[in-house]
This record gives sequence, C-alpha cells and structure tokens, in this order.
Amino acid sequence: MNQIESFATLAASVGAPSYIRHPRLLGWVREIAALTQPERIVWCDGSDAEYDRLCAEMVESGTLVKLDETKRPRSYLARSDATDVARMEDRTFICSESRDDAGPTNNWVAPGEMRRTLNGLFAGCMRGRTMYVVPFSMGPLGSPIAHIGIELSDSPYVVVNMKLMTRMGRAVYDVLGVDGYFVPCVHSVGAPLAVGARDVAWPCNRDHKYIVHFPETREIWSFGSGYGGNALLGKKCFALRIASAMGRDQGWLAEHMLILGVTAPSGEKTYVAAAFPSACGKTNFAMLIPPPGYEGWRVTTIGDDIAWLKPGPDGYLHAINPEAGYFGVAPGTSYESNSNAMRTLTANVIFTNVALTDDGDVWWEGMTKTPPAHLVDWQGNDWSPDCGRKAAHPNARFTVSATQCPSLDPAWDDPAGVPISAFVFGARRSDTVPLVSEARTWEEGVYKAATMGSETTAAATGKVGEVRRDPFAMLPFCGYHVGDYFKHWLAMGKAVAHPPRIFSVNWFRKNGEGKFVWPGFGQNMRVLQWMVERSRGRAHARESEVGLVPEFGDLDWSGSTFDAQRFGEVTRLDRGQWLAELAAHDALFAKVGEKCPPALARERERLAARFGA
Ligand code: OXD
Ligand code: MN
Repeated sequence: MNQIESFATLAASVGAPSYIRHPRLLGWVREIAALTQPERIVWCDGSDAEYDRLCAEMVESGTLVKLDETKRPRSYLARSDATDVARMEDRTFICSESRDDAGPTNNWVAPGEMRRTLNGLFAGCMRGRTMYVVPFSMGPLGSPIAHIGIELSDSPYVVVNMKLMTRMGRAVYDVLGVDGYFVPCVHSVGAPLAVGARDVAWPCNRDHKYIVHFPETREIWSFGSGYGGNALLGKKCFALRIASAMGRDQGWLAEHMLILGVTAPSGEKTYVAAAFPSACGKTNFAMLIPPPGYEGWRVTTIGDDIAWLKPGPDGYLHAINPEAGYFGVAPGTSYESNSNAMRTLTANVIFTNVALTDDGDVWWEGMTKTPPAHLVDWQGNDWSPDCGRKAAHPNARFTVSATQCPSLDPAWDDPAGVPISAFVFGARRSDTVPLVSEARTWEEGVYKAATMGSETTAAATGKVGEVRRDPFAMLPFCGYHVGDYFKHWLAMGKAVAHPPRIFSVNWFRKNGEGKFVWPGFGQNMRVLQWMVERSRGRAHARESEVGLVPEFGDLDWSGSTFDAQRFGEVTRLDRGQWLAELAAHDALFAKVGEKCPPALARERERLAARFGA
C-alpha cells in the first residue's frame, strides 16, 4: 500500500470483505494476484455453505465423485493425476540464506536463484482460474501455542481439504486483527486454463513441481502438485518445516508426533507424544483400543501426526495438535486394525485415490478380507480381484475432521495444550531394536531418537527393507540443519522442570521365518501401560546395554497368551547387530558433520562400551 492509497481503495482492488482490516495481508494478496493473474479472487469464510458449494462445483467439473448418500453421507471421491500421488521429497527445498542452515538432510537452493525460478513459474500460472484466499489457524484459535497462516491457492480441492484439516475461516481474521502475524503460503497447481478450454479433473503440472520453504522469511511456495502435503500447506510445510525453524528461534518444538491420553481405571490421566516415520501406524496408535483384559483403561486421541510443544507454567511441556483433521493412509485401515478410524469415516469424508464400489461406496486393500467382485479403481478403470492391479493407490488417503473421531480427547482443542509425561520414538525394524526401552537420561533419549532408523516400505522408495536413518522421524520435515536440531532438543530437556521420559519402541521384530512376533495394534497397550507407569516412577525395569527395559513379568499380560519365549524374541539384544547399528550411527553422525553435538558422541561411546566395543 503506498502512502497515499487509502485502505478502502486497497481492499476494493482485491475485492476483500469488510471484516478484513489487515493492510499487509491485502497488499500481499494483490501482489500475488498481479503475479499469478487469476480470473477472480474468492475470500473463503470457512462456512459449511461454502464447503458444500465448492464440492458441488467440483462434482460438476468432474474433480469429485459424490458417494452414495445413504452409504457414505456428504462424502466424495477424488482421483488424482497418476503423476501426482504423494509428497515429493526430491522436489522439496529449504532455501535458507546459507546452505549450512539447511544442512545435509535437505535440498538447498540459494534463495535468490529459487525466487527467480518461482517468479518465472508463477507468472500467469492462475490464468483462467480462481485464486482462493484461505485463512487458517494451526492450533486452537488464539492459543499461545498456535499460529496463523493464509494460503492462496487455485485449487478448490485444497480449500475443502483445508476446511477439514485446519481451523479455517473467518474467525481467523479476528485473531489476526490489523497487524497480526501470519505465515504466507502460495500454492498453484501450475496449470493455467486458456480461455474457453475445458479443465481436466485433476489439474497439475507434470513437468515442474516445487515445494519451497524460505525459513528466514517464513514463506511457503508450492507449484505443480495438488496432492496432500505438497498442497495442503498447513501440514508438513508449515506445521513441521517452517514451525521447526520457528521453534528453534523461539524455544519450542514442532514434531512429527501423535498425541494421546491414557486414562487408568483409577481415573489417572497421562499424556504421551509419539514419533514414528510415515507409514508406521501412527494413526492406529493414536486411536488404540485396549485389548480384552484392559477393562477400565481408555486411550484418547489429541492428534495423529503433528505436535507443537511449548514449556508451560507448570514446568511440563504442553502439546497441542496444530491440525484439526486427519489426512490418513486408507489402505490397511479396517475394523480389525483401527475401528475408531473406520467409525470416523462413516460420513463427511473426502477420499482420494481409493476404489469406488458399484453401489457408490469406497473400498481399499485391507478394508475387508474378501474384495468386492467389481470395482472402479483409483484411476477410473474397471477392476476385478484377479486383474493383477491394486484397486486403491498404496498412498490413497481420507480427509476427515477430528471432531468425528470416537476416541477424541476432551482436551484436544484446549488452548493450553496437554502436559506431556512421555515421548515415544518408534520405527520399523525386523531385528536389533527391542520392543521397548527407556532412556536413563534426557541425553540418552535424544541419542536414541537422533539415531533412529526405519525399514523403508515399497510405497516409500521401492527398496523394501532397507534401513533409512530417520532422526526423530523428522528426516523429510526438519526445516533447518539437523545438527542444530539435535542441539535444540538437548537444550529443551533443560528448559522445563519436568522433561518427559523418553522411550524407544519397535512393534515390527520378525522371527527366523520372517513373521512378525509381536501382535501389535491393541496389544501395544501393554507396552504403553508400562511406559505410563515408568513415567510416573512406578513400574519395574532392569538395566540393559540400550537403556532400562522390562522383564516379562513387568508387563501386564491379562487376557493374553503371549509367552515369555516370544517376549524373549522381541526383546533380545544381539551384539553383532548392535555393532552394525553403531557403525550406522557413525555414518549418520559423519553426514551430520561438525554440528553434531559432542553430547551425542559421548552417548555413542557409552553405548559402544556397554557392548564391549
Ligand atoms: C503423512 C506422512 O502424510 O508422514 O503424514 O507422510
Ligand atoms: Mn506424517
């Protein structure tokens, strides 16, 4: 806004509604519109009427298929372009001023060079399309732990997903006031529409995809993809990559963690935050149903993917879920594996890349034991069980509001967050890492989390079973140098009087025949109970090379037939495997380089000494 231009003129130039009183926001919208040249600007208010209208428009244009109203009320199916089906780590960039601030685990391009590239790509990229202005709060509106973002997007699919995934809408402008801080997020599918041209069902740019973060100026620019974390910029881009850098500067943590509450039969409540790499069952753990024998215990869900944690006045780290919905992987989800998720999905859902049944409902691999005889697959083709193709894409998703989850914790929306007593770090390992262990000190816990490795799944890389180091399950999400991130974690242990206890878990140990030994799912309650008890200073543990571990009798086996022999298989420590593990830790630290904190090198020496290495 130049000095003589009035606020009214500026607001009128972008058609802003009168409740917006923020000149910097208006100026930015005008600047982006001048660059991208949309046909019109729509200011989203987050209302149900707006959601219904956009969905109806997308049914009309072929982007959404309306599901049968009796089977799946108010729900839709989207089929993406076959080249636009997942987050793209190789197209994700952290453009800090210095390469050294992005570190060895991020793709870095100098900000000036990236801005030139983006200016070229975004010039005129919204021609023929609508630019939606999407105001959203990550975290309860007005919470001291929450932050605001505004996403400008030319995708109505993004708008309706943002409505389910965030606190989105007009109330955000009340919190923003005339000069409140917001993270600017610019998104385009990168497919301008020529006058009179017919749109495709899933516009995207097959040649150019860029998911770009400028941590110093806290900006996000995403081009070319309409899918998930590439396009719903509140999630991985803001709530993890940008927020992790904000947390480093401001003394808090943005983590790839679910948050759950455990209520004991006595009524005692304990909150736990747990980090697992993608596709390791975070949503299942967040919605765990205790097994028979655990009557009177309850697990409640605060979040299934991301936690923001700040020191609270009581000396505990307080966590909020910055999101307000779940963007979960559908394949594998069933009434057996996660009945809470299935009950969450009965209505008001947007499904992406699942299969369509003949009666207008959805199906995916693992939903039922016997597949339907005929389906329309995720690419819109006829499908039968013997056709040799998957009906749903392995990364097919559901988007649904958290408020529909039967296990939702009453404090899920509490602006103060919930006090965390335990951190859990888990990954997929068929050997080496025991079912559970507890760090003796904060530093040992940080070492465990920093050196975490997980076996890749076919969906992630194509190389099944290769162990990829995934520090804190943040490898694709840490927005700055991973060595500085380790340092920040070490410091956070001293920033609160009651740091959470730190545990490592592994649900995925296999036996000599390559079969999982631990039953997982609801049975994980036995391990969760032990961790909760330990964090309250109660249950027994013995010393081991890798920390404090339970003996068979330390876990509650009510209602279970799991025996001591199998417990031995999932808890055994093999010296040879741990020597190989130490070598992998060394390789990680060599990659992290000079910024790797000396405290972690000391922990490495202690671990090696315990194995007599
Ligand atoms: C996710 C992921 O979508 O971690 O949550 O990939
Ligand atoms: Mn995730």
